[in-house]
Parts: sequence; C-alpha cells; structure tokens
Amino acid sequence: MKNAITLVPGDGIGLEVTAQAVRVLEAVGAQFGVSFRFETVLLGGAAIDEKGVPLPAETLAACKAADAVLLGAVGGPRWDDLSGARRPEAGLLGLRAGLGVYANLRPARLFPELRSACPLKDEIAGKGFDLLIVRELTGGMYFGDRGRSPDGEVAWDTERYSRKEITRLLTMAFRAARSRSGRLCVVDKANVLESSRLWRETSRALSPAWPDVEVSYMYVDNCAMQLVRNPSQFDVIATSNMFGDILSDEASMITGSIGMLASASLGDSGPGLYEPIHGSAPDIAGSGTANPLAAILSAALLLRHSLALEPCARAVESAVSRVLAEGYRCADIASGDPSEKVVGTEAMGDRVVRVLGRKEP
Ligand code: IPM
Ligand code: MG
Repeated sequence: MKNAITLVPGDGIGLEVTAQAVRVLEAVGAQFGVSFRFETVLLGGAAIDEKGVPLPAETLAACKAADAVLLGAVGGPRWDDLSGARRPEAGLLGLRAGLGVYANLRPARLFPELRSACPLKDEIAGKGFDLLIVRELTGGMYFGDRGRSPDGEVAWDTERYSRKEITRLLTMAFRAARSRSGRLCVVDKANVLESSRLWRETSRALSPAWPDVEVSYMYVDNCAMQLVRNPSQFDVIATSNMFGDILSDEASMITGSIGMLASASLGDSGPGLYEPIHGSAPDIAGSGTANPLAAILSAALLLRHSLALEPCARAVESAVSRVLAEGYRCADIASGDPSEKVVGTEAMGDRVVRVLGRKEP
C-alpha cells in the first residue's frame, strides 16, 4: 500500500504534537485526494514502560517497513536515572542508526509574521533569514567509543568520522546548496580537531564536482556568534552530529521558538524520519499548550521528501503561514501584541486544518 506512515509519538508533548500533524495530513490528503495509512508504535520512555526497552524490535521493523516515519519526541524526568543505553534517547539514536538516516536537514527560516518573536535586534531580524543546517546524524561523538575508567574518575566520548561518512553527508549538503542559493558553509573546529581536518580535506576534494556551489569554511565557535550577529549570511550549513545539535537549537531560537523547527532525516534508500527538533518538554506536557507547528512542518517535509507530494507539502506550509498571518500564536511564539490570538495545541491544529479545508489558492 502506498503512503504508509509509521507514527512514533514517543513521550511528553510528542504525543500531543504528532496528533495534530496527523490531522493536518488527513486534511491535506482529503484536499488532494491522497490517502495515508498510519500505524503507531512505541519508542523511548513509553516503550521502556510497556516493553522494558527504549527501541523494541517491532518498532524498528515497523519503521523500516513504512514509506516514512513521523516522530514526536522522547524522554522525560521519569527515565533520567537510567544508564545511557537504557535511556529513552538511546531508542531515538538506535532508530536513526537503524534506518540509516545519516543526513538531518533542519531548515530555519524567519516567518515575517514572527519577527516580533525573534530575540534579535530589529535591524538584524528585519533582513530575515532562511538557512538549512545539514547535520550528520549517525556518526561522531554520539556513536563513537565511550567509557569510564574502572575507578569512575575519568570518562570519554570519541569524535570519530570516516571519509566515507563525511563524503555522503557533504554530497547531500552540496545537493541541497545547488537547489537553493548555491552557498555551502562547512562548519568545524579544524584549528583543533583532527576529525574536522578530515571534514575540510574531504570537502575540498569534493568541491570541483560542484562548480556551481561556492564553499566556505567556518569554525563552530565563530558560527555560533555569526548566527546571532548576521544569520542572513548563511544558506546551507553542513556540520557534524554534535555541532549540528547545538547550532540547530540556536538557529531555532532566532526563528522565534524551538517550537517552529522541523527536520527531515534521510539516508540513501528506505524511509525518511521526520521529527520536530524540540524535545518532549515534560514541563508543559499534558497542559495542551505545546506548539504543534514544528511537527506539522515536519509532516510537510515528509510529504515532500518521502512521498513526492510537493503540492501537498506546499499547501501545508502555506496554511501554516496563513494561520500565523491571521494572528494565531501558541504561547511560545506570542509576543504579547494585542492583535495576536494565543491558542493551545489542538486549536492551532484546528486553524491549520481549517485553512486547508478552505480550498483557497
Ligand atoms: C535533537 C535532540 C536529540 C539529539 C536528543 C534527544 C538525543 O536534541 O534531535 O536535536 O541530540 O540528537
Ligand atoms: Mg538537539
């Protein structure tokens, strides 16, 4: 059957935001005459409670068998005392590795309607920005050798990359840059780390094959600064797993809120994995206030990259813009302006669904 989507709501607000993304998928499907088949599986804390492990074998199997996977978020204080490999986050890392989705695309753009939610000065926010972080997702420090000395006094995590891993990630980034403005910035710490020097060497070897892409290099500390000083200088940023994790949270905040950022994780074949970049937000879970737009925008990426339904993806993205233009805000993106209508998770989902149902251009 076509359009099989495995849903992995996970924990905390993951359940609330994916429920709204599913409603939006059904609405856009109805509009375009497309149907989806959903199957829901457990991951993270929910899987630990039910099955004793963060990534049950049947979850990985159901994800591998799907056309695409839509994930919420994992983790929470209930499971914080578990050891590394038994934590909810280990389930997420296992799923990413199990699906072979080595490239994590994290677009960060400032919706003009959210300028007042952007913490940057007006003269910077006014220029707008639209960048894409291509984060390596299945290697580096997240997956390198780690350990503790027998006396527990020394601990280590290893940043390790092969030329092959870097090549496939950078190829994805070059391709993305070619389809956008043609600018690629490789972010590393090549003044200190040998693994970063291999990133640069690999990038320099690849770039002649992409004459239409202009490559630049930046140290990660400088990039962290430049993102708040002048984000519009960036188009595509390619970087390692760890640096990409950190820079994408920073990039999300300058769009107004981490509640806005979607992501697509892709490999060479098999289903893509789509998830908001935010976490399970235990502090607001169950309150009905979480912003579902990052999950909804992740569903749009799923339509585009895994199901080749570009018109549906665009319809969802423009419905989100429209809802923002109409003044609807979740608490995280509300600026306090009296023209704004602050709504909860479900009402925000309603607004997007209603715009899709209007059958306007
Ligand atoms: C993210 C998250 C995850 C990561 C955590 C939950 C393991 O922060 O998707 O950015 O570090 O990759
Ligand atoms: Mg993160």
